[in-house]
Amino acid sequence: MTAHVLVEKKKLEKAPLDLHYLGDRVLRQPAKRVTKIDDEIRLLARQMLQTMYSEDGIGLAAPQVGVNKQLIVVDCAPDKPEAPTLVLINPTITKTGGKACVIQEGCLSIPQVYLDVTRPETIEVAFKDEQGRPQKLAADGLLARVIQHEIDHLNGVMFVDRVENTLSRNQELSKYGFAVGAVKPL
Ligand code: NI
Repeated sequence: MTAHVLVEKKKLEKAPLDLHYLGDRVLRQPAKRVTKIDDEIRLLARQMLQTMYSEDGIGLAAPQVGVNKQLIVVDCAPDKPEAPTLVLINPTITKTGGKACVIQEGCLSIPQVYLDVTRPETIEVAFKDEQGRPQKLAADGLLARVIQHEIDHLNGVMFVDRVENTLSRNQELSKYGFAVGAVKPL
């Protein structure tokens, strides 16, 4: 029987996995490549998706749930049951293009903080899916943005590290109880 990784897009009363927040060391460790794509990984992906939907996110990286593995899940249309869910294992950005875009980002690991970040408009990404099949994807718009944000997590980078307006960054972080010293400017 084929293992199904997809989950129903709905909020659970309690998310299966606990989130880690800015200031937690696990978010700063580079994640390890996944060497075996098995039922354990598929269970992790499923639980990450359930956690993402429960917390109203559109992307989640394994370090955010305390797992030091190169795995991210993305769904830019959580309100559309028919829209596909992405599971990216060992993702690598192979190409960036377009213009440098400024978009406001947020992160489930830094609740309530939203700040402008500049990133390339388009990307190409190579990864393995939850069945271990090699895949390539070209993305732009919100999808490109989310994938870049999540891959940053796998390298121990948080979006606030990329914020150019340090004054408003520090204000926002302080306002919501985060230590400004937790930022590691790139
Ligand atoms: Ni994030």
